[in-house]
Amino acid sequence: MRGLVMNKAKHRMLIVSNRLPVTIEDGSEGPVLAPSSGGLVTALRPLLRDCAGVWIGWTGTDRLPQVERLLDDYSRRSSFALKPVFMNAEERASFYSGFSNEVLWPLFHDLQSRCNFNPGYWDTHISINRRFAEKAAAEAQPSDLIWVHDYHLMSVATGLRKLGIGERLAYFHHIPFPGPDIFEKLPWREEILTALLDFDVVGFQTLRDRRNFVSCLRQFVKEAEITSLGDHLIIDEPGRRTVVGAFPIGIDFEEFAMGASHRDVAERAEQLARDLTGNRIVLGVDRLDYTKGIPERLAAFRLLIETHPDLHRKISLVQVVVPSREDIPEYGELKAQIQRSVSEINGHFGEPGWVPVHYIHRSLERPELLAYYRAADIALITPLKDGMNLVAKEYCASRVNNDGVLILSEFAGAAFQLHRGAILVNPYHTRAVAEAIRSATLMPPAEQRSRMRKLRARIRRENIYRWRDSFCQCDEIIAESAPREAAHVAIEVVACRKKPGNPA
Ligand code: ADP
Ligand code: F6P
Repeated sequence: MRGLVMNKAKHRMLIVSNRLPVTIEDGSEGPVLAPSSGGLVTALRPLLRDCAGVWIGWTGTDRLPQVERLLDDYSRRSSFALKPVFMNAEERASFYSGFSNEVLWPLFHDLQSRCNFNPGYWDTHISINRRFAEKAAAEAQPSDLIWVHDYHLMSVATGLRKLGIGERLAYFHHIPFPGPDIFEKLPWREEILTALLDFDVVGFQTLRDRRNFVSCLRQFVKEAEITSLGDHLIIDEPGRRTVVGAFPIGIDFEEFAMGASHRDVAERAEQLARDLTGNRIVLGVDRLDYTKGIPERLAAFRLLIETHPDLHRKISLVQVVVPSREDIPEYGELKAQIQRSVSEINGHFGEPGWVPVHYIHRSLERPELLAYYRAADIALITPLKDGMNLVAKEYCASRVNNDGVLILSEFAGAAFQLHRGAILVNPYHTRAVAEAIRSATLMPPAEQRSRMRKLRARIRRENIYRWRDSFCQCDEIIAESAPREAAHVAIEVVACRKKPGNPA
């Protein structure tokens, strides 16, 4: 049986994720590279800066020679080589829009009524996961750590094992893992669970996700033996062993805090505050996704200004959304619903000189995003369910003066770490969210500072480098355990050591 020891040292990292950190867009003179959006890329990108390795992922396109050239140029300029996986339109519809985002995404966010369990989607999930596995096998060197990311690729290890890649396969699950009462609806539930057990290490965002995964194993993979060792669990099945842990993902705190401290960002933040005529600014920043609770948030803001006329002309909600998954009809419907709701609130309550809700529907450059974080008195982050939610952490890291208030959904993974400093809310409880905004507007500066310091200290400490190291240090737990067969193999992933700084 394969065994695994991970420890810090000098092995190359081979990252496999659905998306590359860049996506192809149409430029006026042909395809161009643009940064991909979403938390996975924000989190992993800093790890690549001073780290040699390979990143395998989808370009968002079908095979095009120009795209391969663009990626080769990019790879020559950076320490990380980008290796593309392509999909044609039919595969994209069935693998990405279909199985990934009409089955797994809603189900794993507890929204089972939105699922479309089309049997054809499963077949494409398997064939595209095999394609990623083949690409990884072709790129892998004997001592690499192959680190697969996120729900699209839960079956990649099975493909790799079939191709004879026997060592050092790790998986991190960026989104929530549902409990058995929800997971049981998945027609391919046993297949997904046993595919995950083909990895040597499986990481989740929170202890709740890990607990749900283990409960599902108990119910659907009866032969799995589960024992605990230290902070982790060991899952033994005949011929294989998997370490399972909770590893809450972080951000590069230093990068956000330093960026937000920049004079241009501070000036831009002041200008934004002036443009909003000195009103208290409540900020929402999200990918346009139904899991983010944007209509529910707008309803809470509407109730706030309806029930507190004293706040008229004194408060504005700035809602920034980055377009996402636009091929999927539900995302188009959500966009229309949000636009209707924003215009309804502004039409009903707005006055000359006061726009209650400002709506921005585009991707922002990092300095502009930081200026919004700095300008906002209150961040209103209310997903209905979220694996982690990095926006909450980015907002706090950017509050270099230690002021501001974070209102956070209790259903975001980040709530497990940030509950002491944030105001936690149930995003479905419209009145409670409205009152939380009201309390935030009244919070004295000393309390803001005390809470924000706690938040920032934790986000700074539990940053992205610590996340990587704790994930890659599963060696201790494996070394302490006694695999039934096979020798341990040392994995060393410190090629890219960067010390977390403390700029704030
Ligand atoms: P998810 O992974 O579901 O998208 P996260 O909150 O974890 O959710 O991550 C979202 C990421 O996308 C953050 O890093 C955030 O800065 C970025 N982002 C969100 N909206 C925008 C926007 N309009 N422009 C640029 N970046 C954005
Ligand atoms: O974490 C959730 C996630 O699916 C990530 O895998 C991805 O980076 C992000 O959301 C954006 O989604 P998409 O790749 O579908 O645009």
